[in-house]
Amino acid sequence: MKKLKIADGIHMLTMNVDDILFEGIWEIANGVTLNSYIVQGEKTAIIDGVIGWDGVPETLYKNMEEIGVDPKSIDYLIVNHMEPDHSGWISNFRKIKDDFTVICTEKAARMVKTFYDEDRVRIVKEGDTLDLGRGKVLSFHPVPNVHWPDTMYTYERDTKTLFSCDMFGAFGRMNEHCFDDELTPEEMDFFEFEGIRYYSNVMATFTPSLKKAIEKAKTLDIRIIAPGHGPVYRKNPQKIMNDYYRFSQYAEGAGKNEVTILWGSMYGMTKKAVDFAERVLQREKVKYNKLEMPQESESAMIAAVFESAGVIIAAPTYEYKLFPPVAAALNEIGRKRITGKTAFRFGSYGWSGGAEKELKEIMERNNMKWDFIESVEFEGAPREEDLKRIETGILELLKKMKEKVVE
Ligand code: FEO
Repeated sequence: MKKLKIADGIHMLTMNVDDILFEGIWEIANGVTLNSYIVQGEKTAIIDGVIGWDGVPETLYKNMEEIGVDPKSIDYLIVNHMEPDHSGWISNFRKIKDDFTVICTEKAARMVKTFYDEDRVRIVKEGDTLDLGRGKVLSFHPVPNVHWPDTMYTYERDTKTLFSCDMFGAFGRMNEHCFDDELTPEEMDFFEFEGIRYYSNVMATFTPSLKKAIEKAKTLDIRIIAPGHGPVYRKNPQKIMNDYYRFSQYAEGAGKNEVTILWGSMYGMTKKAVDFAERVLQREKVKYNKLEMPQESESAMIAAVFESAGVIIAAPTYEYKLFPPVAAALNEIGRKRITGKTAFRFGSYGWSGGAEKELKEIMERNNMKWDFIESVEFEGAPREEDLKRIETGILELLKKMKEKVVE
């Protein structure tokens, strides 16, 4: 666990976590940080306490002591968000101190009770404040459904710091550098990549609410954004706000000037056409990602589709339907409400089609509103004329997706 000073009276405690599935689902190949913040006036508050996945709070307590904070002196536990990666230590904290107050929204209060049987709670609403003394005044700003209904921002007026919890966060472990002004260009790119994975995996479903949360952040005079995961932005907090706005556009059909080939093949017939499609994309000098299902993780698959302006679905018919791993991937994308992508499908069939029908059903069931170029299906292996039709489809896709490119 690292200890960093954000400003006078405000410290960050951060730890890297690896070897878990985030939320029990998402592979985090590059880890994730859990950030906790301590604000000291005459009274002391901890915002989004973290203890790591081992459930052992001693590390947190030891680190608090090392920055001169006696855990027993904590008066307020500010729960911006009840998901246990931020709140899992509450019941344990009771063992060392019995008189504290949890500060949270009404929705969080119910979960604080049901998850931790804790009812020493002060419920806050928009604009409520907590004066810690010595100039440290916190205000609270609910941002529901980011990504749980209970979520809120905490804002410290003196330093103009926004404690945004999951909002403006990213996957990815932090090593030496934890502030935006310390990050190398490579680390900046890394956290943008990890921010896209985080947003697409965890947040995308709630994009309308995230857009409202971005608007709410704009109403505050912000000098520092201190999220629950990933780097602190103190040089240019506008950067992560702009990034999040762009990510919200990706969820609604925009994307980078790149194509994701989401594909699967039973015996290599569809693969022949995928190989051909790659050659066309290379010739056209278009950046592309290639994700074979079910080999790829869902986390990587969702992120790639999410960030791309164009999607090629290459999958055969299997038992009168779409090749199941690709159908499952598209269903997951639909659950994430990634809508409006420009797309093109091709694939092989044996004795009967059916993939196309299921593709349409998935799109309709999830209200995805993807804009499709006419599909190409071929019997058995692709012939020369099939490849020509695929090339035409790809060129049409590249032309059409240009309208959706947002970099
Ligand atoms: Fe970082 Fe929604 O928990």
